[in-house]
Amino acid sequence: MLLRLKEISINYLPNQNILEKIDLNVEKGEFVGIVGKSGCGKTTLLESIGGLKKPQSGYIYYNNEDIYQHLFNQTGFRKKLQIVFQFPENQFFEQDVFSEVSYGLRMLDLPSDMIESRVKQSLESVGFNFELIRQKSPFVLSGGQKRRLALACTLAIQPELLLLDEPFSGLDAEGSKIVTDTLINEHQKGTTIILVSHDPNILCEICDRIIVISNRKIAFDGNPVQVYSKKDALQELGIIQPDTQILTQLLDMEQLNNLKYDYFIQNLIHFIEEKA
Ligand SMILES: Nc1ncnc2c1ncn2[C@@H]1O[C@H](COP(=O)(O)OP(=O)(O)OP(=O)(O)O)[C@@H](O)[C@H]1O
Ligand SMILES: [Mg+2]
Repeated sequence: MLLRLKEISINYLPNQNILEKIDLNVEKGEFVGIVGKSGCGKTTLLESIGGLKKPQSGYIYYNNEDIYQHLFNQTGFRKKLQIVFQFPENQFFEQDVFSEVSYGLRMLDLPSDMIESRVKQSLESVGFNFELIRQKSPFVLSGGQKRRLALACTLAIQPELLLLDEPFSGLDAEGSKIVTDTLINEHQKGTTIILVSHDPNILCEICDRIIVISNRKIAFDGNPVQVYSKKDALQELGIIQPDTQILTQLLDMEQLNNLKYDYFIQNLIHFIEEKA
């Protein structure tokens, strides 16, 4: 098991748990989406998994090692796990894009030609022209470009586990497509991904497991169909279903076993032909 959360409870104020006795296992290679209403504790959970917020009780194991135990190898962990924060612009501090992306690589003591090729590769993978962007200040980029830059910084490290907190917010359709394709590609290379997002349509395209957080607990955990077909329960929790699932139910089509858009369209055509 790559990641194991055992009965973790987290609060910011005494006796006011944001998350309570959460158990969660994530296997290597999974692509997990986390959803839940604003303020339910998604960012808190990611920070806790990332070693940044110690739970008040319970344990978090990474490859069977307790990450908050004082002998845990934090430096090694930083090379294996990377986080793209909800407001990534707050994490930039270098004068130019090249230095920003290479910062983590310099910490890994890699030779300079390898650093340059990894920086180039990761900037290009999120849709930047390396030569045009390398000398720009991270602070003059648009909100969407900053998000893609933050992702490039983490990809350059080639992490084993990637945590992303709302990486699509503020992106236009083209930016969303670039980030989606990049994440699918990373996942295919074997990276384990945990992604927080409010967009069920994107989650259904890329995740193989969805976790819903509500009332301090994990309310649902399953594949996209298992989770998103629960119309009434989700409505009660204020969780939006993906368009493909809404339309399937509205049209009274048979429940699909995959909520990806292309699959839905194929089935819709079949459904219309049968009705005709
Ligand atoms: N540093 C902090 N100090 C005190 N309370 C905090 C702190 N950070 C978060 N909280 C509280 O913890 C709860 C969970 O916050 P969190 O940011 O984890 O929610 P979220 O699910 O990520 O929300 P969103 O979807 O809006 O990003 C909220 O009630 C929030 O006010
Ligand atoms: Mg958040």
